[in-house]
Amino acid sequence: MATNGSGDDVEQQEWIHFNSVLRTFQNYKLESLERVYRSEQYLNQLPEYHQEWLQSYRSDLQIIKRCIEHNSSIIDIMTKEAPSMFENVRAVDANISSASYGTVGEVLAEGVDKVQATLKQLARDWSSMGAVERSQCYQPIIEEIERKFLNNAIDPSQIKILVPGSGLGRLTYEIASRGFVCQGNEYNLFMLIVSFFVLNRCTELNSFTIYPWVQQHVNNLSVKHQTAAVTFPDISPNSISGKSSGFSMAAGDFLEVYKEEQVWDCVATCFFIDCAHNIVAFIETIYKILKHGGYWINLGPLLYHYSGAQSQPSIEPSFEAVKKAISCVGFIMEKCDTRVKSRYCQNPASMLQYEYDSVFFVCRKL
Ligand SMILES: C[S@@+](CC[C@H](N)C(=O)[O-])C[C@H]1O[C@@H](n2cnc3c(N)ncnc32)[C@H](O)[C@@H]1O
Repeated sequence: MATNGSGDDVEQQEWIHFNSVLRTFQNYKLESLERVYRSEQYLNQLPEYHQEWLQSYRSDLQIIKRCIEHNSSIIDIMTKEAPSMFENVRAVDANISSASYGTVGEVLAEGVDKVQATLKQLARDWSSMGAVERSQCYQPIIEEIERKFLNNAIDPSQIKILVPGSGLGRLTYEIASRGFVCQGNEYNLFMLIVSFFVLNRCTELNSFTIYPWVQQHVNNLSVKHQTAAVTFPDISPNSISGKSSGFSMAAGDFLEVYKEEQVWDCVATCFFIDCAHNIVAFIETIYKILKHGGYWINLGPLLYHYSGAQSQPSIEPSFEAVKKAISCVGFIMEKCDTRVKSRYCQNPASMLQYEYDSVFFVCRKL
């Protein structure tokens, strides 16, 4: 394809990527089942008495396959309307059903991992099972926003808050449901498609069931933990649409979408700033788009998402170095807590538990 940078080329690239994401969703079942078939094949090659001793494991694999098939049926529902979601994405050929998305766009590498990450994010953001993580990660941010902006002198509907890297949108929703104008920004189409479904198409409380950890084949005390069911949404969809008129989502790269200076009263980032190639570019943009007197509230670790990727540029400054950059950009750090216990998309029953000692800080642009 020609890449002369014209608008048409960009639109074409976006369309191809969109189709690839849909194909990757669609490929979830095949790829996930193949992983189970491989275990079954190896099991079949073991000495007969080993197979005999492992009979319960063989039946566990049947349960796992049924959970994968169920997840796939929910994915079909969630992606059904995706082709008409974005104005800026050319609709996929109307004759093509959700079972076959056009001829353009390949299944993405790490496809099943991306789908699984989205399912786990559904548990974090929109299920009662995610309540503990949300209270660790979102609650400190929400309480800080309430302390700064919820008082008699301020009408929250006049306060504009941006949540870059908003994932499936729960933090954005929680802030908007407190009366603020709140926009989530996200560039990952897996997240955008599923958040669109939850926020616009779910009609009943806990009406959908998924098995978010079914691909987690290791560190299970029992198959029940691998096949734990999670229902969503955990709050009434009516309250999602009714309580949050100030809610919006903007698709695209944070650094590209937000160029206008001095627009936002607050920028709230949760597990986001370490998604940058260059963290200073994120900090600088946050500073520019905040109004004078505005706040940047952040919670998260410094996992640096591109750190392990050979083909991607990455720097990994320590928090001490990041703090210096924050000050050089012009922020005053008003509050800084370290070792804030926070988990991210964890299966609470797994034998392996990751817990971050995150940083939580509040900065002000004077
Ligand atoms: C680790 S997740 C955190 C999601 C959510 N804030 C949470 O705490 O659950 C980071 C999110 O930021 C998004 N993201 C990363 N870089 C971005 C960028 N440059 N512009 C917009 N979104 C971005 C990713 O797609 C991902 O959904």
